[in-house]
Amino acid sequence: MLRRLHPDQPASFAFTPANQAWAEAQIAKFPEGRQASAIIPLMWRAHEQEGWLTRPAIEGIADMLGMAYMRALEVASFYFQFQLQPTGSVAMIQICGTTSCMICGAEDLMAVCREKIADKPHTVSADGKFSWEEVECQGACANAPMAMIGKDYYEDLTADRLREIIDELAAGRVPTPGPQNGRFASEPKSGLTSLKEFDSGQRKYNASAQLASDLGETVKRIDGTEVPLLAPWRDKGAGHHPEPSKVVVRDAPLDIVTETGRIDPAKAAQGDAAKSKAKPKQDNTATPAGKPGPKDSASVAKTSRASSKAPQVAGETAGTPKAGDKAASKSAPEGPAAEGKTPLPGAAAETTAEAGQKPQTMTAPRADGADDLKMIKGVGPKLEKLLNDMGFYHFDQIAAWSPGEVAWVDQNLDGFKGRATRDEWIRQAGILASGGDTEFAKRVKKGDVYE
Ligand code: FES
Repeated sequence: MLRRLHPDQPASFAFTPANQAWAEAQIAKFPEGRQASAIIPLMWRAHEQEGWLTRPAIEGIADMLGMAYMRALEVASFYFQFQLQPTGSVAMIQICGTTSCMICGAEDLMAVCREKIADKPHTVSADGKFSWEEVECQGACANAPMAMIGKDYYEDLTADRLREIIDELAAGRVPTPGPQNGRFASEPKSGLTSLKEFDSGQRKYNASAQLASDLGETVKRIDGTEVPLLAPWRDKGAGHHPEPSKVVVRDAPLDIVTETGRIDPAKAAQGDAAKSKAKPKQDNTATPAGKPGPKDSASVAKTSRASSKAPQVAGETAGTPKAGDKAASKSAPEGPAAEGKTPLPGAAAETTAEAGQKPQTMTAPRADGADDLKMIKGVGPKLEKLLNDMGFYHFDQIAAWSPGEVAWVDQNLDGFKGRATRDEWIRQAGILASGGDTEFAKRVKKGDVYE
C-alpha cells in the first residue's frame, strides 16, 4: 500500500494546551541537539488528538524539533500505525486478517465493516463516525478473531457481535472490550482445567478490560487532561533543558499545570477555546535570570555582542570576537540574555525564524584560504558549498553566530533546514576555531570518514 499524504488536509494544527505541555516535557528528555528523538511520541500524541496524522501536524512537529519536513514525513510514512488519512470521528476499527484470525472468521468481520462502514478500507463512513482497515497480527491470536477499536482489543468476535459493537459505539455507548464470548482471558472456553484457585477473587473482567470498563471509554481522542503530567527527568537535569517551571511554551500551557503536576481541566478548556481562535505561536523558553545553561552561556554573550553591533553588511567580518567584547557582553547583557531567556533548541528555529537575523558574511575567504568546514560533523561537501555560497568560509564565523543568527541560518539551509542546531555547529566550530579538534575532526584527519 502506498503511504502518501491525503489530498484533503486541514489548514493548520496545534496541540491542545495540555498536549503541548506534555510534548514539551517529552522534548526535555533528550540532550541538546537530539530533540529529533522525540518525534515518534509527539507524532503519536498528535495522532491520538486528531485521530490521524495531518500534514500540518507533521510539519508543526518537525518545526518543534528543528527537523526538515522531509525527515518527519519519512517517519510518518514508515509506520503503518500512523493513519495518513482521516478516520472516523468515533472509531477506527482495525480487523486482524492474519492466519489465526483469518481461519476463525476475520473475513466475516471485514464483511461487516464493508456493510456498515464503507466498501473500501480507509474510507470514512457516510455518517463520518467510523472507518476500518485490515491489519497484521495484533498478538491476540488465542482469542481470534479480533479487532482493535481505539486502544482496546475486542476478542472472540462474531459478525453479529461486531455489528452490535458498532451500533453501541454509534449510539455513544462503550462496549466492554476483551473476549466477547464469555471467556475471562484466553483460558479454554469450557473453563479452567488446572490452577483453578485462580478463579477465587477474580474480578468480572480481565485487567485490561476491567480498566477500560472502569474508565468508561475505549475510543476517546486524547486531549492531555486525562492523566497527570509527570516529568521527573526534569528534576534530574536530563536533557540539559531549562527547568520545567521556567519553560514557556505555546500559549504558556504550563499555566494549566497545578502544583501537584496535574492538568487543570478548566484552564485547559480555556486554552482550547483560545486555540480555536488563533493558532498558537511557538515561543522562547526561559531559564532563571542570570542562570543560563552551561552550553548557552556563550550564546547569551553572543546575543548581546551582536545586538551592540552596527547593522551588518556583506564583507569581511570584524574578525574573531575581542576579549573586550565578551567582557562588555557579560557586564551589560541586552535583549533575551538580559531576561535570562535562551531558546529551547528544538523550538529555536521556529521561534526566532521571524526575528532571526542574517549573520555577517564574507564575499570571499581570507587570504590564507577557507577552513575545511567538512571538519564539522554534519557538514558534507554539499553543505560546505552551500555555506560558502552564503558567505561562510571560516570556523570563527560560525562560532560567533548568535541564537538569532543560528535560527536564520537554520531556516535558510535549503534542503538542510535545522542542521546548524541539530548538529551543534557552534559548539564544534568553537573548538575548531580555537585550534582544538573534535572527535569527528580527528576521524576526518585520520581518513576514517568517507564522503
Ligand atoms: S492472528 Fe489475529 S491476533 Fe494474531
